[in-house]
Amino acid sequence: MTMPLKRLNLDRKWVVVAGLVALVLLAGGLYALISPPAQAQPSQMPAFSHQKHVEAGTQCVFCHPGVLNGPVAGMPSVAKCMGCHQNVQVSDEKDQPDVGALTRMWEAGQPLRWTKVNDQPDFVYFSHRPHVNSGVSCETCHGDVSHMDIARPVYNINMGFCLDCHRRQAPEKVERLIDCKTCHK
Ligand code: HEC
Ligand code: HEC
Ligand code: HEC
Ligand code: HEC
Ligand code: HEC
Repeated sequence: MTMPLKRLNLDRKWVVVAGLVALVLLAGGLYALISPPAQAQPSQMPAFSHQKHVEAGTQCVFCHPGVLNGPVAGMPSVAKCMGCHQNVQVSDEKDQPDVGALTRMWEAGQPLRWTKVNDQPDFVYFSHRPHVNSGVSCETCHGDVSHMDIARPVYNINMGFCLDCHRRQAPEKVERLIDCKTCHK
């Protein structure tokens, strides 16, 4: 009598284990279906790592100087990349082919094209300058880019995102900052 029962217990255990494995696989499959795809790297974008450049000591504004004075942050040109890479010796031999690809782009006069991460509709007026001047950090809106390779979106920068922060400013400024005309000219 005891033997068959024991066997049954053992079988049950396996049924439970198999069931769990199936659940995990199913969840994994579902996640793969619903999770957003990793950002595709456009073909004209050479290998690029924010993390490695920031670690090497390059400031955000060196490559995106427009944040200091205008609406457009600006992207470094291939010539600007080469301004360093004609002289910089990469420390890791594995990275040499990527720099080689960059050099060939430069020689062929190919411009740098990247997939835009942040793109406001034309009816929205945004400028980096007032934000940078009042000390709002890049991370507040873009996330921790210094630990990314290619930049990826972290926050959904919609009207609510802008207004949430504008409402939290000094009371005498709020009226102006939430006025439709401030962001919709
Ligand atoms: C208050 C939010 C906010 C802060 C702070 C901010 N950005 Fe942006 N950034 C945006 C928005 C919104 C856009 C999209 C602008 C558009 O499409 O017109 C953008 C676009 C960009 C772009 C894309 C290129 C371009 O010219 O549109 C770069 C690069 C960029 N930001 C870098 C930075 C850097 C570097 C800092 C810090 C010095 C920074 N941003 C701080 C909101 C912000
Ligand atoms: C201010 C100087 C400077 C600029 C501008 C610059 N780089 Fe670099 N780059 C470096 C340094 C420094 C390293 C790291 C060298 C090391 O320690 O290996 C590096 C590393 C690299 C690497 C090798 C690491 C990897 O990610 O595979 C590539 C590729 C690269 N840069 C591409 C670019 C591209 C593309 C641009 C322009 C969009 C650019 N760089 C602009 C200085 C610069
Ligand atoms: C050596 C040059 C370099 C430096 C330094 C650099 N970036 Fe960039 N950045 C790029 C390039 C090239 C791209 C386009 C590829 C990509 O999307 O990552 C880019 C893209 C971005 C984007 C996405 C732009 C879009 O399409 O909306 C943001 C945001 C950004 N950078 C923020 C930063 C911040 C914040 C820092 C400092 C922590 C920084 N970058 C430092 C070269 C640089
Ligand atoms: C994290 C906080 C924060 C976020 C997010 C933010 N802002 Fe601002 N914004 C500020 C601050 C601070 C100022 C400067 C206020 C002052 O004049 O002292 C400002 C100023 C401005 C100004 C200039 C207003 C003027 O009259 O001088 C515009 C335009 C603006 N923001 C648009 C936007 C838009 C559009 C977004 C969303 C895409 C946005 N902001 C997101 C904090 C923020
Ligand atoms: C601080 C900046 C800011 C202010 C102030 C602001 N908006 Fe917006 N608005 C935005 C941004 C950013 C978008 C783009 C929305 C998106 O991409 O989701 C937007 C989008 C819209 C849209 C398009 C519909 C939509 O949701 O995409 C309408 C309509 C609109 N705003 C009306 C207004 C009105 C009316 C006011 C005044 C009561 C106002 N906005 C004040 C930033 C602002």
